[in-house]
Amino acid sequence: MKVIRVRDYSELSQRAATYFINKLTQSHFGVWGLATGGTPKGMYKELIIQAEEKGVSFQNLHTVNLDEYVGLQPNDPTSYHSYMQEHLFQAIDIPSENIHIPNGMASDLEKECDRYEEMIKGLEKIDIQLLGVGENGHIGFNEPGTSFDSRTHVIQLESSTREANARYFDRLGDVPTHAITMGIQTIMEASEVVLLASGKNKAKSLHALLCEKEVTEDIPATILKKHPHVTVIADEEALSLVLLTCERENEQVLKF
Ligand code: F6R
Repeated sequence: MKVIRVRDYSELSQRAATYFINKLTQSHFGVWGLATGGTPKGMYKELIIQAEEKGVSFQNLHTVNLDEYVGLQPNDPTSYHSYMQEHLFQAIDIPSENIHIPNGMASDLEKECDRYEEMIKGLEKIDIQLLGVGENGHIGFNEPGTSFDSRTHVIQLESSTREANARYFDRLGDVPTHAITMGIQTIMEASEVVLLASGKNKAKSLHALLCEKEVTEDIPATILKKHPHVTVIADEEALSLVLLTCERENEQVLKF
């Protein structure tokens, strides 16, 4: 696992965007797994700027998003469909048919999960999967206790996750109770994973990932220790516990 230590959120966003743009300029096509939430917003903003500067086209890119709330219309301003349009897709030249996000309004949610898995298989593989991490260690919306064998499925959101995301809704009661999320096994099958973490509230999750030996379903992000190609881009605050307690072991990766 490679850890790129950055000063702050602004540097994190720039480094992450450059990382993804470089992938695209190297191959001109591919499948990106994308995340939503607060963390990647800055990266998407930078991605748009850097793509424009470098004349990079997204015409041959396919994207598959990690998750979507159950029960929100795609055009609901708080849906992840709307989030992706607002923060990335409206500003780049990706064909709409290349964009894939779970349908949280499907009448048969189990069927929708199977369809999503089949769709990913049809794309062969996810070349690079972008992840954030929850304060409870979730990746995608795979909450603690989710099986490492899981594929795309419906999950009941933990109250801490709903509280963390309530800032995007008028009131806590409006935050959906369920979501469709790619499973942990689905995420692990991506050729490469890039995890972004910013802020003190991510320090415990990063400590579990980078300092503790245990790989446990109680902290889903710990499974990434078993993935052969992971890059963590994290700022000083997110790394604060790591720097305090296990800097020695991480000396090589944290000092660059
Ligand atoms: C979002 C997702 C979640 C978030 C995580 C962190 O698609 O899958 O795992 O990455 O909840 O969210 P933020 O970035 O808002 O702290």
